[in-house]
Amino acid sequence: MTHATHDVLVIGSGAAGLTAALELAQEKKVLVLAKGSLTGGSTAWAQGGIAAVLDAGDTFENHVRDTMVAGAGLNDRETVEFVIERAPQAIDRLCELGVPFNRDEDALHLTREGGHSHRRIVHVNDATGWAVQEALLKAAKANPNITLLPGRTCIDLITDRNRQEFSGAGHVWGAYALDEATGAVEAHIARATVMAAGGAGRCYLFSTAPRGATGDGIAMAWRAGARVSNMEMMQFHPTCLYNLEVKNFLITEAVRGEGGRLFHPETGHRFMADYDPERMELAPRDVVARAIDDQIKRYGLDYVHLDISHEPPEFVKEHFPTIHEKLMGLGIDMTKGPIPVVPAQHYTCGGVLVDLFARTDLPGLWAAGECTESGLHGANRLASNSLLECFVFGDAAAHDILTMWDELPEPPAIREWDESRVTDSDEEVVIKQNWTEIRRFMWNYVGIVRTTKRLERAAHRIKLLRDEVDDYYGHFRVTTDLIELRNLLEAANLIVRSALSRHESRGLHFTLDYPETDPIARDTVLVP
Ligand code: FAD
Ligand code: SIN
Repeated sequence: MTHATHDVLVIGSGAAGLTAALELAQEKKVLVLAKGSLTGGSTAWAQGGIAAVLDAGDTFENHVRDTMVAGAGLNDRETVEFVIERAPQAIDRLCELGVPFNRDEDALHLTREGGHSHRRIVHVNDATGWAVQEALLKAAKANPNITLLPGRTCIDLITDRNRQEFSGAGHVWGAYALDEATGAVEAHIARATVMAAGGAGRCYLFSTAPRGATGDGIAMAWRAGARVSNMEMMQFHPTCLYNLEVKNFLITEAVRGEGGRLFHPETGHRFMADYDPERMELAPRDVVARAIDDQIKRYGLDYVHLDISHEPPEFVKEHFPTIHEKLMGLGIDMTKGPIPVVPAQHYTCGGVLVDLFARTDLPGLWAAGECTESGLHGANRLASNSLLECFVFGDAAAHDILTMWDELPEPPAIREWDESRVTDSDEEVVIKQNWTEIRRFMWNYVGIVRTTKRLERAAHRIKLLRDEVDDYYGHFRVTTDLIELRNLLEAANLIVRSALSRHESRGLHFTLDYPETDPIARDTVLVP
């Protein structure tokens, strides 16, 4: 096994990881590890944009209120204010890095999305994430203090935690990572580690998230002894393209923001009038996703229609060039007719608990972005608040590490990765089978509408699979697929446990057994 020691290890090269790395690199040497390619996270896929109060007619208080209405009161107001007040500064920084946001003459063009009472989404057409990812990567590649290592799948955090009992005191000293090309396991030792490994969307059969969103960061932190919170709050995006060949293609909420309407595909009824007559298609995501789910189940539909063809074709093409081109390739002309859409898992609102300094429970471990629960999103994330959270908390983690650097202890001697009792797997099919099974029962039993019975069924399946996966993990050499399967199962377990412990319906957690919302909002906090 190879060892390497760095000042700071950042796990993840998305918006959160690279923001932290760029700030840290002003003073320290930083290693950034990424599973697969450097652009493989959700950041590069983001479409709609980034929410920020930039219009004179808008206020921070409006944005705070919209965030807390969407979050069904489970948000932490201090965190919400902390993030929203830093949004204009985050946008300035991205402009300095060269992100070519759309402009209306001198001002940034602001689009609108569900749950926002004002236009406040800055964007680069309908492919904001790609532009942001490119700008951050370009800056990181040019920085001599940053080393970027793609093709490394982190397996576990290096920690001296006593695993028998939760103390919150186990120190983190970096991570063990698999070199995907050679199969060797390396120890990347660091005085400080930032977890920025993204969400757990791929627990579900249908998800807009990329393939690598398997909850690795959440599972690694949990196994190391960090608490996780609100994992039952899984966000489903209302409008994912329904197509038998192309799975997981998002149709941005900005299509509804710019006038798109939802219709029953056979009767042509604009059904949002029956669910939220005031806000219609611009109600928060949980409301719209549940309405579509209800239409699909009630009428036995495969999909509903999203239609913006009443707007001039030039307007549609100018605002949504990426989506327009993709759909044309599939024979769908969105300037002339409707787009078939279904809800799909989209965002993990829960995650590793962090404070305003991005500190986790574990000394030596900070976390930022979609793998965390910072208190910003509550029971349902407001559209385009996620990239914003990555910038603000990536920055907060870096500043905290730099501020307390002299107090951080030097890493001790690190235990070797033990491969003496494992062999190469001869049953890869076990991984594929279990992966598919998890994603299927999570979709069917732990989806948009839940019941206790369905959740208990899922918990039972998880228990059985856990024995199988643990046995497999204990006997065979690790591969990325095996690491992901183990994490996917851990994430599914945390989601189901959290869902079972919430005896109310709130935001994204809707259960037929407890349809009412409690008067007091409480976080679900799981302790390892
Ligand atoms: P990611 O960008 O997902 O990056 C995770 C990183 O961790 C990757 O580099 C990955 O390789 C690495 N990693 C994971 N596991 C391991 C491991 N075991 N070892 C090593 N590295 C690992 N949000 C908005 O605010 N606005 C939008 O318009 C928007 N649109 C979206 C559209 C789509 C289709 C999707 C899926 C999401 C969208 N979101 C949007 C959400 C937003 O994109 C994500 O929440 C955000 O980009 C997450 O950034 P991150 O840095 O936390 O993680
Ligand atoms: C979208 O463009 O609809 C996604 C926005 C988001 O997830 O915040």
